[in-house]
Amino acid sequence: MAIRKSKKTPPTPAVEDVTQEATPSETVENAHAEAISSAPAEVAESAATATESTATETTGPKTLSVDIGGSGVKLMVLDENGKPLTERARQDTPQPAKPQPIVDVIVALANSQTVGFDRISVGFPGVVHGGVVYTAPNLDPDWRGYDLAGTLSQILGKPTRVANDADVQGFGAIEGKGLELVLTLGTGLGSALFIDGRLVPNLELAHHPFRNDCTYEEQLGRIALDKAGKKKWNKRVRKAIELLARIINYRALYIGGGNAKKLQGDLPTNVSTVSNEAGILGGIALWRY
Ligand code: BGC
Repeated sequence: MAIRKSKKTPPTPAVEDVTQEATPSETVENAHAEAISSAPAEVAESAATATESTATETTGPKTLSVDIGGSGVKLMVLDENGKPLTERARQDTPQPAKPQPIVDVIVALANSQTVGFDRISVGFPGVVHGGVVYTAPNLDPDWRGYDLAGTLSQILGKPTRVANDADVQGFGAIEGKGLELVLTLGTGLGSALFIDGRLVPNLELAHHPFRNDCTYEEQLGRIALDKAGKKKWNKRVRKAIELLARIINYRALYIGGGNAKKLQGDLPTNVSTVSNEAGILGGIALWRY
């Protein structure tokens, strides 16, 4: 199987509506300055170790890049070129996965970073417009209408942009040439389409019919993998690849997400897997325009 490393400098998003920004209120203090001791011990420890080993001096703006998933909330600080300055910090996604507890986790993890940051990017597992969440199929219905960009910007005191998680992952994976499709295999099924590096935002294959009266997510998501087992699930992934190749005629397909590593056997030559870290590294692209 071809394994590609995710790109360090994702292409510039050229579609205005792709990213959503909220400017922090001037009266809000920077919560990042709060003591690291307020973060969970395991988080503070991992961030401190990471920072010692990877931090380097940079002069440009630093980005706190956050990836909200159905099973974990992950983040790291990137330099102006998208290079990680800290190792990935992670905490389980609180259950029920309502807005407030997830925001609390992000704030605790953010405050545990010993490298400061100037702005925030977030990949969210649902449809996002203008920093506001429209759908969150694998989290909680309470997310509908939640102003995630505005909330984080207020609490952490930094401008914040939010986009769909697969869109962000895509920016960390694509080459920026021709038609490129990205699928993420995790709790849900993420999809993102790019034309010469320009994103077609919020492409939602997940809930579209696939086969046997089931949607792509019902056949390829985490629950389906657990239920059907690796062998059957691998067959289904291949069927989806064949079908999407015929419908979309992409030049290249990148498969990421936590379950991409469970793919077995050879893939077509224009299909490759990418590290799940692309979900965070792509966050820098939300600020490149
Ligand atoms: C959501 C997508 C998301 C994907 C992966 C799906 O259920 O509809 O927006 O990208 O899960 O998290």
